[in-house]
Amino acid sequence: MRVKLVAGNWKMNGSLASCQALLKAIMPPLSALKRARYAVCAPYPYLAAVGQALKGSNVALGAQDVCQFEDGAYTGGVSGAMLADCGCRYVLVGHSERRSVFGETDEVAAAKFAQALRHGLTPILCIGEALAEREAGTTEAVVARQLDAVIRQGGLETLARSVVAYEPVWAIGTGKTATPQQAQAVHAYIRARIAAADRRLADALVILYGGSVKGANAAQLFAMPDVDGGLIGGASLVADEFVAICRAAQGAEETARI
Ligand code: PGA
Repeated sequence: MRVKLVAGNWKMNGSLASCQALLKAIMPPLSALKRARYAVCAPYPYLAAVGQALKGSNVALGAQDVCQFEDGAYTGGVSGAMLADCGCRYVLVGHSERRSVFGETDEVAAAKFAQALRHGLTPILCIGEALAEREAGTTEAVVARQLDAVIRQGGLETLARSVVAYEPVWAIGTGKTATPQQAQAVHAYIRARIAAADRRLADALVILYGGSVKGANAAQLFAMPDVDGGLIGGASLVADEFVAICRAAQGAEETARI
């Protein structure tokens, strides 16, 4: 059975002091939520300190990117081994900002995905279409292409050790959330596509939705049958919002068990 996961993506925000203040505000309420799973993806320089604060808690540590190469002469790179060393459990791979701002291709994202797995990290593979692609009716083709690059490089079975995040680019940081039905339709497509090759793997795969998730819309999104939680950007920096989203995941788990 799939368990809901909520991961905060702090992006390049905050300071050491603000990260610590945020953790101080979210950790006590989150410690009471035992049903779902939680993580925060912190900026590289703060990973060690954030990891220290999360120790022994029910919130896992994640990073926002990983180098596509093994250790070596890659100035500025941060390897999977280093992230594992810092206590990371998750790492975002192929976030749309990495793709659009830093020019990351499907193949680079796939190499990063492989590096994460190699070092025992769980990659959260981010896929999703831009507005023009949605309007052109190519949403499914785009997410299929992004997914296929990973499957081609590592094999379908590597998905069993990963999480997928469907993040329509037009919904990221725009305040324009996909409707629960729009999210469900793409999530169902992703799962069906994988199920055509391996139903068991597809049934177990956690697929998060990301893009302007807030406390006010999280419960409706998480109630969709193929939405297994959320990847949260802006709202993960606001303690009350993030806690409300985490509570919505806990609520969805409780409803599922009735
Ligand atoms: P947002 O970002 O919640 O601010 O839209 C989501 C993401 O980029 O992961």
